[in-house]
Amino acid sequence: MAHAPRPTVLVTGAGGRTGHIVYNKLKERADQFVARGLVRTEESKEKIGGAADVYVGDIRDASSISPAVRGIDALIILTSAVPKMKPGFDPTQGGRPEFYFDDGAYPEQVDWIGQKNQIDAAKAAGVKQIVLVGSMGGTNPNHPLNSLGNGNILVWKRKAEQYLADSGIPYTIIRPGGLLDKEGGLRELIVGKDDELLQTETKTIPRADVAEVCVQAVLFEEAKFKAFDLASKPEGTGTPTKDFKDLFSQVTSRF
Ligand SMILES: NC(=O)c1ccc[n+]([C@@H]2O[C@H](COP(=O)([O-])OP(=O)(O)OC[C@H]3O[C@@H](n4cnc5c(N)ncnc54)[C@H](OP(=O)(O)O)[C@@H]3O)[C@@H](O)[C@H]2O)c1
Repeated sequence: MAHAPRPTVLVTGAGGRTGHIVYNKLKERADQFVARGLVRTEESKEKIGGAADVYVGDIRDASSISPAVRGIDALIILTSAVPKMKPGFDPTQGGRPEFYFDDGAYPEQVDWIGQKNQIDAAKAAGVKQIVLVGSMGGTNPNHPLNSLGNGNILVWKRKAEQYLADSGIPYTIIRPGGLLDKEGGLRELIVGKDDELLQTETKTIPRADVAEVCVQAVLFEEAKFKAFDLASKPEGTGTPTKDFKDLFSQVTSRF
C-alpha cells in the first residue's frame, strides 16, 4: 500500500526551551515527520544531540538560513530575542531587576528582521505552512514587557505576525500566555483572541503544551489561516485536550 509522503518540518530556535521540545516531538514521530532543526551555534547543536538534521545559522543573516529551508514543507518559528538580567540585582533589597539585550540582538533584529528573513526564505523555498509562536499582550502597546530592556519586544513580535499573515502562505500564529516548565498533555487548553484571556485567571501554559500545539498545527487544515491566544486550565481541573482538530476548529480569528 502506498503511504503519503511525510512532511519535512523545520523548527527554528531548536536549542531553545520550547523549540527543543518541538524538535524532540518531531524526531519521536518519525512515522509522521522528517524533522529538521535550526540553532544559532555549534554549541547549541551539540546540546540537542548534534544530529545531521540540525543546521546552524543566524536568522539575522538571510543567507545563513537558506540551507535549512531547502525542501521543507512546514516551518515552525520558535526563535526569540532573549532579555538578560543586569548583574548586581539583590532580591533581598526589594525592587525589580533590570534587563538588557546584547548589541545586535534586540527584538527589532531578532523578532522582526530575523522572523521576516525566515518567512521570506521559506516562501522562496516553496513552504506550504508556517507556524509562528508569538506572545499574548501584543494588543497593548504600553504592555510592561515592551519597556523591558527598551526592546519593545511585543511590538516587534506583532509586526512579524502581521508580515506572516500578509504573506499569502498558509499560517498558524500561536500567542501563548506565560510559559511554564511543567509536564505537557495534562491540561485542558484554551484558545482566545485579542488578549481577552489576560483578564482571566487562565493565562499560563506549559511549554510542552505549546510545543504539542505547534506540531499538531502541521497536521490539520483547521489550523491554517488562523491566529489565536493560547492558555491552559490548571492541572486537575477540566479535561486534558486530546482532540486538536476540535481545538483549531474553535478558532475563528485570522489575526
Ligand atoms: N517566557 C514567557 O513566559 C513567554 C510568554 C509568551 C510567549 N513567549 C514566547 O514564546 C517563544 C518561546 O519561548 P522560549 O522561552 O521557549 O524560548 P527561548 O528558550 O528563549 O528560545 C529562543 C531561541 O531563539 C534562539 N535565537 C535567538 N536569536 C537567534 C538568532 N539570531 N538566530 C538563531 N536563533 C536565535 C535562541 O538561540 P540561542 O540560545 O543560541 O541564543 C534560543 O534557542 C518565544 O517567542 C517567547 O518570546 C514567552
